[in-house]
Amino acid sequence: MKTTRSVKKFHQKLHLWYAVHGRRDLPWRNTADSYAIYISEVMLQQTQVKTVLERFYSPFLEKFPTLQALADAPRDAVVKAWEGLGYYSRAANLHDAAMRAAPSLPVEVEDLQALPGIGRNTAHAVAAFAHHAPVPVMEANVKRVVCRIFAIKSPKTDDLWEKAFQLLDDENPFDYNQAMMDIGATVCLKRAPKCGECPANEICEGKLNPEAYPEKVQKKAVPTRSSRAMALMDAAGKIHLTQREGKFLNGLYGFVQIPLETNHFFIENRRINLAETAVVSFVTQVYSHFRSEAEIRFIKLDWAGESAEWYTPAEIAELALSGVDHKIWLEIRRFLAEL
Ligand code: ADE
Repeated sequence: MKTTRSVKKFHQKLHLWYAVHGRRDLPWRNTADSYAIYISEVMLQQTQVKTVLERFYSPFLEKFPTLQALADAPRDAVVKAWEGLGYYSRAANLHDAAMRAAPSLPVEVEDLQALPGIGRNTAHAVAAFAHHAPVPVMEANVKRVVCRIFAIKSPKTDDLWEKAFQLLDDENPFDYNQAMMDIGATVCLKRAPKCGECPANEICEGKLNPEAYPEKVQKKAVPTRSSRAMALMDAAGKIHLTQREGKFLNGLYGFVQIPLETNHFFIENRRINLAETAVVSFVTQVYSHFRSEAEIRFIKLDWAGESAEWYTPAEIAELALSGVDHKIWLEIRRFLAEL
């Protein structure tokens, strides 16, 4: 247990450090708009600051400037704006949350946390950054900082939150939390942390062997799933794509994937034989829980597709495709150009 005095001194040092070294110009740190802060926090849940900053944050807010605008937008437009960010359930949850909460986000942590896609960390971040609520954030970097300050090898969630509350500067939760994230991102590094530069040095119980905290957990090897991706072109030159449903890649368009052992399948009640298709190429994609390998097959059909699932190349450019389907589409275009 740290004394109030040592924690107060830590706060002073942390704020001095933040004033000099903090990433204070990040755009989501220079707005009081809880919606903009919320968007940044959801993007930053699984994506690096650099990527969010350079490619996604401003364009998304230009397209959907308010929670109401997001709630009113069609699902496809929201998923399209998320294209390339990955973890697409975040886009669906954002849209659902907007439809439930519009015209404005709730202020209280508990009410924020009741919305889809908002966990405790994101609720705390929005409350602390938009409303200066005295609550700590706990993204991956802060977790490491707290583990080291308290020399915790295998953190338990409740224990970590309790420690985070002990350390919090509840008089200035905005700067405190932003600074803790910056310390985690730039000083308290996973490997070779710069303890000499750290404002928490004096109170840090893990500083003699920082890399021991938290203990590394052996990651399970990710399984590989193999499949075939089917690129079908109809007599009019349109390409067949389906819109995915369910949790994985929900809302994104992509090529039909079939198991390797399948030798035929049906589209619009017409039989497609694998033996009549051409092997184009292979693609791989790594997701959080598995690795996907797909053989790409192409067939030019002599009939015109009847459903809405056939698209011209110009139309495909307007659809949200997952990373792997982008790769497949690129391979198909190369293949067709060489014919
Ligand atoms: N990661 C999550 N929230 C963040 C923020 N506000 N600034 C920088 N990185 C973050």
